[in-house]
Amino acid sequence: LRDGELPIDELIATFSVDVPDFPEPGVLFRDLTPVFADAGAFRRVVDALTEPADVDPRAAALGGADGGPGFDVVAGIEARGFLLAAAVALDAGTGVLPVRKAGKLPREVVTADYALEYGSATLELHTDSIRPGQRVLLVDDVLATGGTLQAAIALVEQLGGVVTAVAVVVELLALGGRERIAPHPVHALWRV
Ligand code: PRP
Repeated sequence: LRDGELPIDELIATFSVDVPDFPEPGVLFRDLTPVFADAGAFRRVVDALTEPADVDPRAAALGGADGGPGFDVVAGIEARGFLLAAAVALDAGTGVLPVRKAGKLPREVVTADYALEYGSATLELHTDSIRPGQRVLLVDDVLATGGTLQAAIALVEQLGGVVTAVAVVVELLALGGRERIAPHPVHALWRV
């Protein structure tokens, strides 16, 4: 930390806005858009998501011990994960992949369903977007129940990719998402 810099969790807590009863009564929505809108805060968040110390140690065995970032590509989850994944990839010197909701990708896809509170949803990846053995950093804004990331991990693994890290800005501790996607380690900047 430079002099006068807030720890990353305090920075995110300071810039984010809590919205009670959104999108429905009883839910406290953590709105991160002001964090991303501030140039300094966005820079800190993107840097922190990329921290190599938080990458799965398996990355070293897979070739990440060269001082590189421990992943070959960054995959962002629609929609807010896209904002972060592109910035992280540019920072790390890798490419970026969109993990999209059903029906958006134009070519052959693999699909994974996940449960929502009411019904289910589907995520997709282009079949040729990951090579076997390729190391993937998965990025999203929020880890809540973990259903979304669990589906994204399944897609990467279906294509033979290796998820060497999962990075999120906020982890909502009460919802147990970390347990759901274990043993994949989660790098969360603000655990609340
Ligand atoms: C939110 C959030 C995560 C997901 C987390 O996305 O951006 O992707 O929910 O929830 P989970 O851990 O319980 O699966 P949302 O589905 O609202 O999509 P959006 O980003 O397109 O609005």
